[in-house]
Amino acid sequence: MSELSGKKILLGISGGIAAYKSAELLRRLQDQGAEIRVVMTAAACEFITPLTFQALSGHPVAIDLLDTESESAMGHIELARWADAIVIAPATANTLGKLAYGLADDLLSAVCLASTSPLAVAPAMNHVMWSQQATQDNLNSLRQRGVHIFGPDSGHQACGETGEGRLMDTGALVENIKTLFSPPLLDGLKLTITAGPTYEAIDPVRFIGNRSSGKMGYALAQAAQQAGAQVTLISGPTSLPSPHQVKRIDVESAEQMLQASLDTLDDCDIFIATAAVADYRVRQIAEQKIKKSADSLNLELVKNPDILAQVAARADSPFTLGFAAETEKLEEHALNKLQHKQLNMIAANQVGQADSGFNSEYNALQVYWPGGHQALPRNNKHILARQLIQLLAEHYKKEQ
Ligand code: C5P
Repeated sequence: MSELSGKKILLGISGGIAAYKSAELLRRLQDQGAEIRVVMTAAACEFITPLTFQALSGHPVAIDLLDTESESAMGHIELARWADAIVIAPATANTLGKLAYGLADDLLSAVCLASTSPLAVAPAMNHVMWSQQATQDNLNSLRQRGVHIFGPDSGHQACGETGEGRLMDTGALVENIKTLFSPPLLDGLKLTITAGPTYEAIDPVRFIGNRSSGKMGYALAQAAQQAGAQVTLISGPTSLPSPHQVKRIDVESAEQMLQASLDTLDDCDIFIATAAVADYRVRQIAEQKIKKSADSLNLELVKNPDILAQVAARADSPFTLGFAAETEKLEEHALNKLQHKQLNMIAANQVGQADSGFNSEYNALQVYWPGGHQALPRNNKHILARQLIQLLAEHYKKEQ
């Protein structure tokens, strides 16, 4: 039996050309046994008629917030209570903006604000609108509040251009919607995740650091939390907001990150090391700011502890997932680290490529474990994080 059997899904449709695909989505959800009611925005009705969705769903389509007749039938509060989940597909930039700001000036946004059920949005819009900072900021605040974001895909767009912003493929959407009801993959498990760079002080004002943004680790923390885990995020200096319901511990140096990591191990099932830890630190941190009097300056560096290797070497080691950023011989180096650090899994990425890896919104991973391998092709780090958490959960369960 499908996870969707008997589930009440409120399908929200906002005004984009992809609205015609929502009819097929509704059908596929019904095939899986879901009961669907539809709320459309006024703009959506310009693209496809409510009659289509009334005929398919077998119920009147709700459109107006201030319509006394429909409010006396099933008003916004009843609709919000009825729904086991709300899925907005397509979600336009405008609708995402309203949700992000908590506006409730039409029926769809009012129902969302009145509901405590899981909310998922499948964005669809022109690729320029998608890439605007305003849209991305709105998405980030929705994501932080636990809203599920499905897609978008990239490819040919109705506007004649090519790029990111197509509504996620219907089959993939149905699979994603199922995850709203499946038991959380990491239910009840405790995860520690290291993220970001470390700063190794030279004197009171200077440090040795690196360009890690922390985006991959933060995306993993968010995905793990959404998968039901209790997450502790040990973060080097970043400018990222804390993910929703994640305990964050801020550190600066590798030694602080090691100590904070070790402190979590009494109660930790899975340890994920995404941090770009500085390999060396200055032996003697100057107490005062170093003056530029001499023509040359020698700093003596000493090796930092390998946090991940120390965690994995413990007799009571949690399940470990490491990362390997490589510029060449990806597989060889990754497998070496998997073996030497005695890890359960390692996710390797090629660095030094345009718009992927360090500081980018995108990444591509090759994931290895003893005797196996899976590629996770280039994608937005949040989507990749969900895929990696799924793979990790499968392997963790196998080893229990
Ligand atoms: O050996 P390398 O630095 O390439 O290994 C990368 C992996 O080890 C990453 O998972 C990283 O977070 C972790 N690591 C660590 N402590 C270090 C160096 C790397 O935890 N000092």
